[in-house]
Amino acid sequence: MTGLDDTPEPAVADLMVKAEAVHKHFGRLDVLKGIDLEVRPGEVMCVIGPSGSGKSTFLRCVNHLEKIDSGRLWVNGHLMGYRQKGDRLYELRDKEVSAQRREIGMVFQRFNLFPHMTAMENVCEAPIRVRREGKAKARERGARLLEQVGLGDKVNSYPSQLSGGQQQRVAIARALAMEPKLMLFDEPTSALDPELVGDVLEVMKRLALDGMTMVVVTHEMGFAREVGDSLVFMDDGVVVEKGTPRDVLTNPRHARTQDFLSKVI
Ligand SMILES: Nc1ncnc2c1ncn2[C@@H]1O[C@H](COP(=O)(O)OP(=O)(O)OP(=O)(O)O)[C@@H](O)[C@H]1O
Ligand SMILES: [Mg+2]
Repeated sequence: MTGLDDTPEPAVADLMVKAEAVHKHFGRLDVLKGIDLEVRPGEVMCVIGPSGSGKSTFLRCVNHLEKIDSGRLWVNGHLMGYRQKGDRLYELRDKEVSAQRREIGMVFQRFNLFPHMTAMENVCEAPIRVRREGKAKARERGARLLEQVGLGDKVNSYPSQLSGGQQQRVAIARALAMEPKLMLFDEPTSALDPELVGDVLEVMKRLALDGMTMVVVTHEMGFAREVGDSLVFMDDGVVVEKGTPRDVLTNPRHARTQDFLSKVI
C-alpha cells in the first residue's frame, strides 16, 4: 500500500508474506474479497474478526491448502502454488508445493497429533519421513524443542497421557521441527480449558521474542496487545483495519471494529 508519507513500498523479496488482492469463493459464497496484507520478517501479526469472516480461509490460502481464485500470494519471496513466466502463471506440481509448504509451520485449534506416537515420535516424524533426516539428529532436535516448550519430562508420553495444553505445545514443537520461516496459528488456545491457555501463550511469546515471523488468529486480546506488532481486524472477507494493537484496540477507526471489540473485550 502506498501511504500518504514517502515510505517506499517494500519489495516482495523483503517481506515474509505479501497478499495482493486475494479472492476466494466457495460456490456462491465470496469468502475473501480482495485481501491485501504484508508481514515483514520477524513481525507478529494477530488477526481478529467475527466467526465466518474468512480468517481460517486466509491462513489456509497462505500455505496453499486452499487455492486462491485471483490475486497473488507470496511467502518468503515465493509465489505460492505457481510459477510466473512473463504474464502467465503455471501451477506447480504437488512436490513443488510441498517444498514451498515446508517453509511454513501451522498450528490448529485441534492439535491433530498422531495418537499412537509419543511426543518425541510426533516431533521427529516429519523430519525423518519428509526430510530423510537421520534418527539421532532428529531426536536431538526433538529433545531441544520439547524442552523449549516446557515438556522435557514428557518426551515418552502419548497424546492421551497429556493435557490439551501440553498436546498443543507438542504440536508447536512438531511444527518447529521442520525449521519453518513462518508460523501460522489458527486459534491455538480456543479449545483449551482456561487454566491451560497461559502456558501455550507463553511458549508463543518466547517464540516471538526469538524472532519468529508469526500470523496468529486469536481471541486473546491480551496476547495481541503484548506480543503483536500489528493487529488486523477482518470482517466479511475484507481487512477492515490494520494497525498497531494499541491503536486498533483502544482507538478503532471503523464502526465495525468498534462494534466487534465492544462484544469481545
Ligand atoms: N471448504 C469449504 N467449503 C465451503 N464453505 C467453506 C469452506 N471453508 C469455509 N467455508 C465458509 O467460508 C466462510 C469463512 O470461513 P472461515 O473458516 O474462514 O471463517 P473464520 O473467520 O475462520 O471463522 P471462525 O472464527 O468461526 O473460525 C464461512 O462462511 C464458512 O462456512
Ligand atoms: Mg476459523
